[in-house]
Amino acid sequence: MSAEFPLIDSPDLQLSGKRVMVRVDFNVPLEGGRVADETRVVAALPTIEYALRAGAKLILVSHLGRPKGPDESLSLAPVGEVLAGHLGREVLLTDRPIGEGPARLAQSLRAGEVLLLENIRFHTGEEKNSEALSRELAALADVYVNDAFGAAHRAHSSTAGVADFVEGDAALGFLMAAEVKALSRVLNAPRAGLVSVLGGAKVSDKIEVLRSLIPRSEKVLVGGAMAYTFLAAQGYAVGASRVEADHLDTARELLALAAARGTELLLPSDHRCAASFSRDAAVEVVAGRSIPDGLLGLDIGPDTEARFRAAIAGGRTLLWNGPMGVFEWPALASGTFAIAEAFAASEGYTVVGGGDSARAANESGVAARIDHISTGGGASLEFLEGKALPGVEAVVRRHAALAARRAADAAAGPRRR
Ligand code: 3PG
Repeated sequence: MSAEFPLIDSPDLQLSGKRVMVRVDFNVPLEGGRVADETRVVAALPTIEYALRAGAKLILVSHLGRPKGPDESLSLAPVGEVLAGHLGREVLLTDRPIGEGPARLAQSLRAGEVLLLENIRFHTGEEKNSEALSRELAALADVYVNDAFGAAHRAHSSTAGVADFVEGDAALGFLMAAEVKALSRVLNAPRAGLVSVLGGAKVSDKIEVLRSLIPRSEKVLVGGAMAYTFLAAQGYAVGASRVEADHLDTARELLALAAARGTELLLPSDHRCAASFSRDAAVEVVAGRSIPDGLLGLDIGPDTEARFRAAIAGGRTLLWNGPMGVFEWPALASGTFAIAEAFAASEGYTVVGGGDSARAANESGVAARIDHISTGGGASLEFLEGKALPGVEAVVRRHAALAARRAADAAAGPRRR
């Protein structure tokens, strides 16, 4: 990773005996009040365990869901329990994200102890990046570490604002560093051999990432419901498939961009269709690009799978974001799982964007054979769009300000007393 990023394991960063605030992304799915997927908790462990081994007094901060104020159903309590199990030590949860109680607990922390602040979005200042909240958070800690890649595209108090007010240094954690490194490798890959696979429901969600990746890629493979908007834009019949009528021009613009840049943009050449959007509907393969009236395209077909597999097999750097169909339903999982398997079989460097495609990689049993599976959905997309991430920028800014102050102090020479 580039030297411009300050990292938690930098020899210059003192953690021993310090109150170290680590922003993690514990925004995990809950089912019946329990954590349904621990991936994000497990992904944060290297940074947490490193800080504890280094003798830090650890203060963890995260959001969970999108509450508009305190909401018991979105308490971090179940996440704290899961974390305590992994760490084999107690994790103390505050009863509110900030205030006198949390401040007292943070003050009395001892090295090796873990304090988890209650869901930071219970405080309405968080999403407004309120200076008051940022200052209150900063006052709890000596050092700030951002390891919350999944939330790094948010300029909120705990992801960005706090870094400007913390007394000591700021750094990125191991997960953040690994994510930035993997996604940068895609963005900076040689064009020949870069294969980008994009799926998902809506073109509108992927416009910017397509604009960014089309000129960078040798081949762009488009599947999922958004492919029907592209096919409709080319004049094919798409039956009752989902089409974003207000984005037909966007699709044409993206097709023109691919043509102008000499990028091969592959669309489905056959489909798996049903007469209704329901789990039990009979699924039939429809050959050719067009879909007859009354049928909905719900997955790519076998011929498309074969073409996409061949394109992936020829890639040297490969990115995948978004499912090819409604893979949650077994009869419509074939296309998405085919991509997952082709990625796993690839000899190239493979990166899977977060959210649904990460889940599909896990469910198809190939996750261990993918080089990097991102924990960030929106964050990975924004990074691939070429946007700066506020959570990373804030850390870099704080670290640079501190380094400049130290350099100025050193140039001024020893102070007389
Ligand atoms: C995510 O799950 O993508 C991140 O935790 C960010 O959550 P948000 O979209 O609610 O800001």
